[in-house]
Amino acid sequence: MTTETLRVRLTSRRNLTPQIREFTLAAAEGGALPDHTPGSHITVRTPSGAMRRYSLVNDGEAPEHYTIAVKREPQSRGGSQSMHDDATVGTELDIEPPINDFELTEANDYLLIAGGIGVTPIYSMARKLDRENSPFHIIYCTRSPEDTAYLEDMQSAFGDRLTLHHDGGEPDRAYDFWDHFEEPKDQHVFCCGPKPLMEEVQGVSGHWNEGRVHFEDFKPVEVVRADDTPFEVELKASGRTIQVPADRTILETIRQAGIPTVSSCESGTCGTCKTILIDGTPDHRDMVLMEHEKENRIMICVSRALSERLVLDL
Ligand code: FES
Repeated sequence: MTTETLRVRLTSRRNLTPQIREFTLAAAEGGALPDHTPGSHITVRTPSGAMRRYSLVNDGEAPEHYTIAVKREPQSRGGSQSMHDDATVGTELDIEPPINDFELTEANDYLLIAGGIGVTPIYSMARKLDRENSPFHIIYCTRSPEDTAYLEDMQSAFGDRLTLHHDGGEPDRAYDFWDHFEEPKDQHVFCCGPKPLMEEVQGVSGHWNEGRVHFEDFKPVEVVRADDTPFEVELKASGRTIQVPADRTILETIRQAGIPTVSSCESGTCGTCKTILIDGTPDHRDMVLMEHEKENRIMICVSRALSERLVLDL
């Protein structure tokens, strides 16, 4: 991860739904901000001090502002709450510049799938495809029309290229994606939303060619769960053994031990931290490993161990 930071000032904010608020950020010193393409995110030091990743809703070269939309997450450790409560017009924040782990690839046709606040990169992608006259369709799933950020903007911009689905918060009424995936198509799919939606799309697209379906986990990086337990990791190539505490990931522990690693999204979606697993039983929590890789590969930014010990080729 880069340690470079930029100082930005909040220039406006507005409510998109009762729970989702949009924030516009400009360089604190004025002038242009670094370029970004659809699918990019910035990492924001929220007023609570917690670092949170937010997808950019706009895109552009040397833009004068970044637009993000933040859902108030009552269960969170305070990042989104502090954005809602304490980030007001004029507030200055430090951010890490845009990174894109969810880049639009060249394709003949696109299916864009958004769930809830996962619409932010999808909306940015759709606007770019619209500008370029590229064929695309959006499926946007939310609980209700009132909970749907950018509803009117997207309806008027995309017309019948937008399918809306409201499930009332009931899993039984979730959108049925099978019709779209039954026959593999000459299409690339970009999906961003809550884990159940992404798992559903992953499940129905297993027979598609590898690399056709792309995922972005919009959720803040809170990969360690309350009931996680410690375990041991032997790093075969470095001849070291480390203890991964209950509240740390393998990646964080390795990094802390001074062993060089590569990572990017740190939420199990980009594929950068893929590591050879030599021994032990992993608890896979990522969205990228293919079924046949799960026996001897592990994404160390999110996955843990079911056995007391893992042996990695690091
Ligand atoms: S760093 Fe992206 S999957 Fe681990």
